[in-house]
Amino acid sequence: MLKKNWILAPIMLLTATCTRLEVDEICTNLSIENNSFALIRGSTSHRSEIVFNVRERKEIRDQYITEIISIINDNLHGRIIMYCATHSSCEYLYNKLQENLNNISIDYFHGGLRDNERETAMNNWKSNSTQIMIATSAFGMGVNSNNVRV
Ligand SMILES: *[C@@H]1O[C@H](CO)[C@@H](O)[C@H](O)[C@H]1NC(C)=O
Ligand SMILES: *[C@@H]1O[C@H](CO)[C@@H](O)[C@H](O)[C@H]1NC(C)=O
Ligand SMILES: *[C@@H]1O[C@H](CO)[C@@H](O)[C@H](O)[C@H]1NC(C)=O
Ligand SMILES: *[C@@H]1O[C@H](CO)[C@@H](O)[C@H](O)[C@H]1NC(C)=O
Repeated sequence: MLKKNWILAPIMLLTATCTRLEVDEICTNLSIENNSFALIRGSTSHRSEIVFNVRERKEIRDQYITEIISIINDNLHGRIIMYCATHSSCEYLYNKLQENLNNISIDYFHGGLRDNERETAMNNWKSNSTQIMIATSAFGMGVNSNNVRV
């Protein structure tokens, strides 16, 4: 339909996972001719250095703390970012970790902080002086630090 009515219209298909066979099938089904078609593949999203680990939810929030502390202690050779869903859960976790971890610089970052607080938190993170950052997604996923381990 698209190709019949708008013969010259370019079509772009974007996918992260499509295989070559599936690409061919889509082209066949949409009557896209091979000679007017280009396949550009980006680099693979497989990152062997990244490990995902899903853990069962605990009923009581405090029960996480022991587990989190043991993960932290296993990974003190690098820095750690912990993402929380809400401002209050950031501060809750921050306070719990402050009580339980000595000698480790912990900070938190979320959209509810004042501008100068956010700037200080970000600067301390960038200069390597914060070891553990507890943050909402306001902190950004693209923080470019080469020594984050968790
Ligand atoms: C292509 O068309 C066939 C036959 O209609 C269908 O079974 C198949 O699912 C279609 N493939 C895609 C990728 O849409
Ligand atoms: C289109 O060309 C590619 C290689 O350029 C080939 O592998 C594929 O089988 C061709 N598909 C069709 C439907 O002719
Ligand atoms: C821990 O704290 C002591 C005293 O505050 C300091 O001298 C020492 O360097 C700290 N150790 C680490 C690993 O930061
Ligand atoms: C932070 O420390 C890492 C090594 O742990 C180093 O590669 C990086 O350059 C440091 N960054 C800054 C801003 O000091």
